[in-house]
Amino acid sequence: MPRRIAAKITGVSGYVPPKVMTNTDLEKLVETNDAWIRERTGIRERHVAEKGVASSDLATAAARQVLASRNVPASDIDLIVVASVTPDMMFPATACLVQNNLGATHAWGFDLSAACSGFVYALTVAAQFVGAGTQKKALAIGSDVMTSILNYGDRATCVLFGDGAGAVLLEPADRDDEGILDFVHEVDGSGGKYLFMPGGGSLHPSSHETINQKMHYIHQEGAQVFKYAVRRMAELACEMLERNGYTSKDLALVIPHQANLRIIRAMQDRLGVDDSKVMVNIERYGNTTAGTIPLGLCDAVEQGRLKKGDLVLLVAVGAGYTAGAVLLRWAY
Ligand code: UT7
Repeated sequence: MPRRIAAKITGVSGYVPPKVMTNTDLEKLVETNDAWIRERTGIRERHVAEKGVASSDLATAAARQVLASRNVPASDIDLIVVASVTPDMMFPATACLVQNNLGATHAWGFDLSAACSGFVYALTVAAQFVGAGTQKKALAIGSDVMTSILNYGDRATCVLFGDGAGAVLLEPADRDDEGILDFVHEVDGSGGKYLFMPGGGSLHPSSHETINQKMHYIHQEGAQVFKYAVRRMAELACEMLERNGYTSKDLALVIPHQANLRIIRAMQDRLGVDDSKVMVNIERYGNTTAGTIPLGLCDAVEQGRLKKGDLVLLVAVGAGYTAGAVLLRWAY
């Protein structure tokens, strides 16, 4: 049964820090080369936050833009959900920092940790409150400063990620056939060992030893994550369509998480959609974790690839493993 939420996206904005790091720049830091990175991942460059710029700064910039684009004062926002695996601090929540930066004096909020699936989780969670009628306006934000946890000595991970954020405004749907038509989310914790950051939590609090052992960086078994991502992204995407009586022909646009262009292409082959129906911007941003899907939505709007009434599918897999897909009817 489809799980409809009577909420719709009424605005979207993205923000990336201005500094760009190209593949050629990375060649100076680690044993890699532009051709390998482009061929194996599709990435040409990524944006990098300056020292002292954190996830709340990126999230605030994206949120300010989305509010300005809809002429909504920050004081009208009831709820802020921020997805991030690189929060400014362990606590307070990044959502509290964003609330204060925005002057969203009537909002409550919290952070949510679901790695690359973070934005779709945040979208569903925030939309539930709006759909239930208990909150009128909510912000769902994905924001990550992945470069803060990258080991620039590990070529298998440091070339993949970049920094970025995106925010959507959620408001009640006016009609049954607009907004969020369905969602699916899942966790498979047996995959946690393939992508994680071991240090800095309650298991391994930061110490000289955790630093010496490089536990404050991302650790990944890329091939394992790759296989899981292709399989589950394709399966969840197909499940969303079938359950709602659609085929891939009905889709106007798929906005997949941007981890690797080869993952995206393999997923779309299984789904049966051609390149024109798939949003790809990984070449400019790399994997911004919770930022990829709202940045994809933002680019799609700016490029005129989304119009009112379009059937849109968002789909992601991330560390955890976490996974999710949201099917929506674009509403503005
Ligand atoms: O959003 C969820 C988070 N992450 C992902 O979705 C990532 C999923 N995984 C991937 O995208 C891919 O597995 C990677 C891009 C991480 C790796 O691609 P791959 O095609 O699976 O490469 P590989 O790890 O099998 O390595 C192939 C070769 C190795 O050399 P040998 O052993 O064949 O001599 C690596 O040492 O490529 C080498 N290599 C590199 N060479 C140049 C690995 N990284 C690099 C590099 N530059 N940056």
